[in-house]
Amino acid sequence: MTSFAQFQQVKTQQIETALGNLLPSNSIEPKRLHDAMRYSTLNGGKRIRALLVYATGHLLNLPDSVLNSLACSLELIHAYSLIHDDLPAMDNDDLRRGKPSCHKAFDDATAILAGDALLTLAFNVLSNADCTAEQKVHCIKLLSQASGSRGMVGGQAIDLDNEGKNISVAEVENMHLHKTGALICSCITLTASLKFKSTDKQYRQLKHYAECVGLAFQVQDDILDETSSTKMLGKTQGKDRQANKSTYPALLGLKTSMQLSKDLHVDAIASLSEFDSQADYLRNIAEFTVSRLS
Ligand code: IPE
Ligand code: IPE
Ligand code: MG
Ligand code: MG
Ligand code: MG
Repeated sequence: MTSFAQFQQVKTQQIETALGNLLPSNSIEPKRLHDAMRYSTLNGGKRIRALLVYATGHLLNLPDSVLNSLACSLELIHAYSLIHDDLPAMDNDDLRRGKPSCHKAFDDATAILAGDALLTLAFNVLSNADCTAEQKVHCIKLLSQASGSRGMVGGQAIDLDNEGKNISVAEVENMHLHKTGALICSCITLTASLKFKSTDKQYRQLKHYAECVGLAFQVQDDILDETSSTKMLGKTQGKDRQANKSTYPALLGLKTSMQLSKDLHVDAIASLSEFDSQADYLRNIAEFTVSRLS
């Protein structure tokens, strides 16, 4: 078994190549739209969602042929969510992954359409995945639930609605579980659904791990918005305070937020206790989620 650092490097390259191959070339019309889709999807990001798919696939001995499709569909939806999140009507962020946001590099209309096209491409990719028709339909069902109004998009609506409001810890948790947790969780549930039924014990353990990592990921994102730098983040630091966002640090302070992220890490690791060393990459990702600096 290779080290986590090697796994991360190999799989980051693998997802980059897979995405590069399936995104339409920017020499194909409409060129500006295809250019914007490639601009916002390639050469950037930590690829944590893809890594979660590959790490779950490693645990369950699933072939790369199907994992690549799942990982691409998740990274495409994630890239779309970032493009729309940065739009002036949403977070109004000019910087993403160290470069001008899509609407800055192109224009608002192109950014909206690039997001739309990435979202629809994600489901096209799943429809071509190397697994049974029944498995594909199930994956499409899980991913559409996780990314729609009862998942990520719903969480984004709650986030915007909560700007400037005094909300409870339970409400922040609910918002984070939707806007970020749902998609991260689906990285594991889509992959695990290829091997298990949703009632299987191992599936439930993996799902619990995923829920902890998903929430921890957004808690850490909130912490880094306060503690990191624009250079390190590749996005504008301090944006949450500026926009009066309801975040964990705003509500509980940094110290309690950091403790929460540590507790979620412990919970995530505990839910993997019945798995052997094949689950180590998942353990490494949980650690990375709460210790990352960008
Ligand atoms: C940022 O996600 C938005 C959130 C959901 C917190 P990432 O931190 O995974 O962004 P990239 O893909 O690495 O740029
Ligand atoms: C975004 O949360 C969650 C998404 C669904 C994109 P944030 O608004 O905190 O993400 P960043 O900090 O801009 O990456
Ligand atoms: Mg946002
Ligand atoms: Mg944002
Ligand atoms: Mg943020």
